[in-house]
Amino acid sequence: MSEPAPEASAQAALKFVADGQTLGLGTGRAAEAFVRALGARVADGLQVRGVPTSERTEALARELGIPLTTLAEAGRLDVTFDGADEVDPALDVIKGYGAALVREKIVAASSDQLVILVGAEKLVPHLGARGRLPVEVIPFAETLAHARLAELGCPAERRSDPSGAPVITDNGNLVLDARVSKIAEPGDLDRRILSVPGVLGTGLFVGMADAVVIQDGEDVEVRQR
Ligand code: A5P
Repeated sequence: MSEPAPEASAQAALKFVADGQTLGLGTGRAAEAFVRALGARVADGLQVRGVPTSERTEALARELGIPLTTLAEAGRLDVTFDGADEVDPALDVIKGYGAALVREKIVAASSDQLVILVGAEKLVPHLGARGRLPVEVIPFAETLAHARLAELGCPAERRSDPSGAPVITDNGNLVLDARVSKIAEPGDLDRRILSVPGVLGTGLFVGMADAVVIQDGEDVEVRQR
């Protein structure tokens, strides 16, 4: 059975938006539902500016008439809205199944608040439960990154599209999906992987989410840190 469309969580997340704010716009199905809901408010006169986390989200925001800006122009953002692939009870998160993890983390780190939108199926007892951790790597570093990830106990596979071609991020890099199980110390694993030269970022967002909007069927729950 397919997951419910994320419209209800998108509508609930709009409560975190105020007139005049600059907003980070995430990537993926849940984030796109939020961007569409935001676009409807903008059409009704809400004044906000957005900073997209991917070319795909940028195209959608433009189509909806949401004014865009850049991190360089905006400096600090008010709130970023994004999806996630796993959320644990501490509201720590794994992201990046959609390959936008590095820009997503930069935009989130530039924001006063990070609001995550997920379906209840993304709630996990511990990070790593779904078995993979995305890692963005510059192509020149791929061999080293594979070796170091294996040494860290999480051997990786280069992500490919259905035709077998490597997935290339908006930054021109590769995504390695590291095989993980229960991640006991997410912050520690993040630091260890980031210490590998050529690794740009991991999908671990530790201590970053301020609120998680969870959709379960048509019910929506908001959990705050
Ligand atoms: C993009 O890189 C990801 O971090 C997405 O935010 C994440 O994969 C959630 O996407 P969905 O809302 O499509 O499940």
